Amino acid sequence: MDEERVINTKAKDGEENWEKSLRPKKLTEYIGQEALRQNLEIMLTAAKQRQETVEHLLFYGPPGLGKTTLAHIIANELGVNLRLTAGPVIEKAGDLAAILTNLQEGDILFIDEIHRLSRTVEEILYPAMEDYVLDLVIGKGPSARTLRIDLAKFTIIGATTKISLLSAPLRDRFGAVHHLDYYTPEELGQIVKRSSGILGVDLDEASMAEVANRSRRTPRVANRLLRRVRDYAQVKHAGKVDVTIASEALNMLGVDELGLDKIDLAILETIIDKFGGGPVGLNTLAAATGEDSETIEDVYEPYLMRLGFLDRSPRGRVATVRAYEHLGKSQAGR
Ligand SMILES: Nc1ncnc2c1ncn2[C@@H]1O[C@H](COP(=O)(O)OP(=O)(O)OP(=O)(O)O)[C@@H](O)[C@H]1O
Ligand SMILES: [Mg+2]
Repeated sequence: MDEERVINTKAKDGEENWEKSLRPKKLTEYIGQEALRQNLEIMLTAAKQRQETVEHLLFYGPPGLGKTTLAHIIANELGVNLRLTAGPVIEKAGDLAAILTNLQEGDILFIDEIHRLSRTVEEILYPAMEDYVLDLVIGKGPSARTLRIDLAKFTIIGATTKISLLSAPLRDRFGAVHHLDYYTPEELGQIVKRSSGILGVDLDEASMAEVANRSRRTPRVANRLLRRVRDYAQVKHAGKVDVTIASEALNMLGVDELGLDKIDLAILETIIDKFGGGPVGLNTLAAATGEDSETIEDVYEPYLMRLGFLDRSPRGRVATVRAYEHLGKSQAGR
């Protein structure tokens, strides 16, 4: 089923390769997130001038908006090594200790899904982030003692889609916390333009806008749709893409003008038709649409909320007036 979900903002297996080729390598190539970009530019310039290690940074926001990309760019701009890991991968304190002791001065350690670090691992991280030391407990029981190891000065870049799940002490240890927001259609248009140049797709302005508008305000989705449009044009129209071909291709993928697919519509229809507009619990929605609740929470809901089609209330999800209008439903039963 996941194969059909072209609008899924999360990366799929095998996508890493082409994502890498489309990933901007310099800050000047990074499109959008203007305020954040300016902040980083100043921070990087200052750090380079002082030849200092940059402070620990935390990026949060929905999947596919460019958190990992930024980590690569920062390492690249500073000319330092980037080590990549993720919260669920670091199972034991020893795993983290091994990673940290191997870092060199100035290196960046990128921890994806940092909200999923275990408590014990987190506690090792605190002194490492604050004072660049590692406190290891050697032995057990009364003979146990701690061993303090000095670490090279390094930078942690954490990324999470769920900032609310991050513990306060961990969050407080970041020098700066940055939120990545959805992109504007204009910014996505620029991203599509840049990517089509790299991919060598012959797209006119109107088709670029068409792809951008249906991309759920997410660069990852824009790039994915662009590739699918390219395939369609190649097979059916010998390569050249105009807006009619682009819309045909996107319609065939089941993505509508707002970037919604049938799961989005099923979510809204379930709330409206079966539950009188809500509130409905997340698990009920998951069961009714056949998607798992985490995907609904991470992929579908944020965008539906962004469009103003869905509200989260303490008692569950509620369809808004705009959702009724978009689906052409009567609000008599509300
Ligand atoms: N600002 C941008 N300009 C151009 N392309 C971008 C930008 N942001 C992201 N992209 C493209 O979108 C793709 C996905 O971005 P990235 O992997 O950095 O997202 P992410 O926020 O780390 O997502 P996740 O939460 O799933 O890890 C990248 O491969 C890149 O090609
Ligand atoms: Mg990422």
